[in-house]
Amino acid sequence: VRIDWHADQVEKGQFEHFMLKEIHEQPLTLRNTMLGRINDRDEVSFPELAPAAGAFKDVEKIFIVACGTAYHAGLVGGAMIEKLTRIPVQCDIASEFRYRDPIITDRTLVVVVSQSGETADTLAALHESRRRGAKVLAITNVPTSSIARDADFVIPTMAGPEIAVASTKAYTTQLLAFCLFSIYLAQEKRTLGQKLHAELVQGLKALPVQVEKVLENANEVKLFAESIKDADSLFFIGRGLDYAVALEGSLKLKEISYIHSEAYAAGELKHGTLALIEKDTPVIALVTHMELYEKTVSNIKEVKARGARVMGITVEGNVELLNAADEICFIPPSLQLLAPILAVVPLQLIAYYASLALGNDIDKPRNLAKSVTVE
Ligand code: G6P
Repeated sequence: VRIDWHADQVEKGQFEHFMLKEIHEQPLTLRNTMLGRINDRDEVSFPELAPAAGAFKDVEKIFIVACGTAYHAGLVGGAMIEKLTRIPVQCDIASEFRYRDPIITDRTLVVVVSQSGETADTLAALHESRRRGAKVLAITNVPTSSIARDADFVIPTMAGPEIAVASTKAYTTQLLAFCLFSIYLAQEKRTLGQKLHAELVQGLKALPVQVEKVLENANEVKLFAESIKDADSLFFIGRGLDYAVALEGSLKLKEISYIHSEAYAAGELKHGTLALIEKDTPVIALVTHMELYEKTVSNIKEVKARGARVMGITVEGNVELLNAADEICFIPPSLQLLAPILAVVPLQLIAYYASLALGNDIDKPRNLAKSVTVE
């Protein structure tokens, strides 16, 4: 696969920072990552996987291995694969994976995820997986990278060059690639009903315009971001996929604003972290899982009762969330599996605007590197 990166892709253009530019590129990068992968009959195909036809038929177990933001994409991706194919998936942090003697057979598929394709721990996990007999699929943004070269199969994400250290458009294209791959696997294994298949493809196609809409309504999150700049600590809560997105939102905020934050599975709060909630502690609550809605709302009430100030991220129409949360940011309605691609956008913006208000070096945060090539 050849991807041409143009010089104007590495200019900031009208944007003050690469990060903001890359956040705003997401409608385009999502479109590009879908391009040529959904045919007229709404089937998913990967031209780059054509020589590997049937290679995934006997897969009994999948590991997803990555670092940082790519690991967070893997958490969502794993849920997508399990839901659509019923193949058990385990997600591992790359620097842990090969030291814990993972159970790998020739029916194991290891999916490594890496924006740069050069992360040393992820590359080492790839080598160890192949040594133990697994097939390795790489989801990467750089098809000429070491990880792409050493994997058995490659799905390139089409995010284009990502310059800001804090990853944004790479993450959302990784989620999209995972969703497409899950449908592809489900087609091979015949585990996906026609109705859900059609809904998913329709949902995928709607995403670029929906992300544009989230970006247009950024004012509320901007004000919220400015208001948390002096906070000592912040909490992100959510259940299910909302929890996976909370982890990514918290990482983004830490990376560039240097404000301490933690992401918590909302139901786990009462087992310890609730002790840290005081008057005016900001809490960002993700509430996009409709079947878990009431449960998360009751967690919001728990933190409110201790004085927290809550920003809720929920799906359009859930206005009654204002009875529990102080402020709300709405995302357009989508399928549950696709909601993370929309819900992460306000969190990227909160991290960006908080960091901007603090006067930090947004594109090059202290102590961090875009690609970590040492173990
Ligand atoms: C570094 C970057 C992160 C990134 C991680 C994994 O820590 O600062 O933004 O998520 O590496 O990078 P990769 O290129 O493998 O996705």
